[in-house]
Amino acid sequence: SLDKECNNANVVNVKQQLTLLFQASLGVLVDDPEIQPEIKVCDQDYGDYQCNNAMGLWHRVKAKIPTDFKTSHSFGQALMNNLPASQLIESCSVTGPGFVNIVLSQQWIAKSIQKMLRDGIGSWAPTLSVKRAVVDFSSPNIAKEMHVGHLRSTIIGDTLARMLEFSNVEVLRRNHVGDWGTQFGMLIEYLFDTFPDLEDANDQAIGDLETFYKASKKRFDSDSSFKERAQQAVVRLQGGEEKYRKAWKQICDVSRKGYEQVYERLGICLEEKGESFYNPYIPMVLDLLNEKGLVEENEGARVIFIEGKKLPLIVTKRDGGFNYASSDLTALWYRLNEEKAEWVIYVTDKAQRDHFDMIFSAATRAGWLPAEDNKYPKADHVAFGLVLGEDGKRFRTRSTEVVRLVDLLDKAKAGYKDKLVERGKDTGRTNEELEQIAEAVGYGAVKYADLKNNRLTDYTFSYEQMLDDKGDNAVYLLYAYARISSIIKKSGREIEELEKDGSLELTQDAERVLGLHLIRFPEVVEEACSKLLPSLLCKYIYGLSEASTRFYDDCPVIGSAAETSRLLLCKATEIVMKQCFHLLGITPVTKM
Ligand code: ARG
Repeated sequence: SLDKECNNANVVNVKQQLTLLFQASLGVLVDDPEIQPEIKVCDQDYGDYQCNNAMGLWHRVKAKIPTDFKTSHSFGQALMNNLPASQLIESCSVTGPGFVNIVLSQQWIAKSIQKMLRDGIGSWAPTLSVKRAVVDFSSPNIAKEMHVGHLRSTIIGDTLARMLEFSNVEVLRRNHVGDWGTQFGMLIEYLFDTFPDLEDANDQAIGDLETFYKASKKRFDSDSSFKERAQQAVVRLQGGEEKYRKAWKQICDVSRKGYEQVYERLGICLEEKGESFYNPYIPMVLDLLNEKGLVEENEGARVIFIEGKKLPLIVTKRDGGFNYASSDLTALWYRLNEEKAEWVIYVTDKAQRDHFDMIFSAATRAGWLPAEDNKYPKADHVAFGLVLGEDGKRFRTRSTEVVRLVDLLDKAKAGYKDKLVERGKDTGRTNEELEQIAEAVGYGAVKYADLKNNRLTDYTFSYEQMLDDKGDNAVYLLYAYARISSIIKKSGREIEELEKDGSLELTQDAERVLGLHLIRFPEVVEEACSKLLPSLLCKYIYGLSEASTRFYDDCPVIGSAAETSRLLLCKATEIVMKQCFHLLGITPVTKM
């Protein structure tokens, strides 16, 4: 049957299947589990995949194996000859110092694709070794405007969560908002001053929280009695005094409404568990750490010293108050012990790397996390670089220091709407339709521009680039998708009918290249998950769009002798692209 021919185990990941074959082959030569093959996608001239570490392996094992392997090339040859017979492989060759090149069977590629068409894209989901993960992302600070850094965290975190969810991991999407800092003393006191009767302080009045924040800060810096009152207000708030809690809640609610607008626009699902949530657990967690002998007295503060770091991690300030670190240690404890997460992922800019290094080290010393890197439970900091303006400096607008997120989204949407009108695409469409398309493309463009770079590098924000119809951007990808979809629609044929009518064959070069790209999907998602790198998925969908464009140019579909087969290929491409868009949080459109 198809299943049997397709794959031996339940492994859909090509790289993994080849790894199994090479492991078997290596096992014949050397009995050492440490000796592992390394499989890579290879240069088209040699094949599709390659085992490219025969040389290194040979150096390690040559003393233990028969002497007829005089060179690493001959070792590579033996590696090739011992490969178990498999449906996957069409042919192999050995080049250079022992690279073993694999050409996949075209029939096998086609069958794998047909199997996915039959079983759904879910059958191509990677299998990860964790069941539950926390992704801590977005996490703005109350009363301060969300800025592009938070946009990056929101976009990257959402994609990671989507990729893990697709891989059948239960994801707790956490918005770790800064809702418990000392800034609240000043905000609350200022609120009391401006609105002696709290009921009057409706959303409208404190609606512009940024201005409100600035005004209270100004007062704080210039008026010493106000400052004193503000400091007392923090104590009274943290002590749970009713009036203060109420004002605090009021301020948080206004902020929250603002965030929710952004999340709704971007299609982001998040559950708020801010710093304040963990506050009641802090004393207990610090006690635990203290019992383990981790906490020491230092210049009046309670601290944890971390190996390799000059400054210790302060967990209780001199005044007895808690800080960012105390709440993060507690949140980590909570996530591991109460929520039983096996993987805790934090998405923030790289400036916080040191902070998380220290938190994770303390957790390891406390025995909450294993010392080994490759064991679970695990905590990871997903760091990212800056967003730059076209002048190469930190992204700002003329009027305000930070770019307001909503403005940025508005502008991307309006930019694409203008383009639609310029190209005359507004005729025969309602304004509502135009808006819908502009929104999907505009927001998708912002997301993709952020995700496509390795997250650690700073990137330049450019509307022009992200909305251009050429180049590596969402507009190009969505075009490629729309083209493939329209072929299927024009044919008027249903997938079930196609499946019945015939099979997929990848005879033309452009068809084979596209098919090969499709079956790489599972391994790419897996790698993007395990390395926490959405950019790998972006590279993949860009390559897929190129392959589909080439197929579109080279291979006529409707009315051709290969119509059924090619429609199946179109359908598979549509499904995989759609899934990529879904994982990247981009809404695909079929009319642009
Ligand atoms: N509120 C912080 C900021 O805006 C980010 C919080 C990240 N998450 C955490 N658990 N520390 O910089």
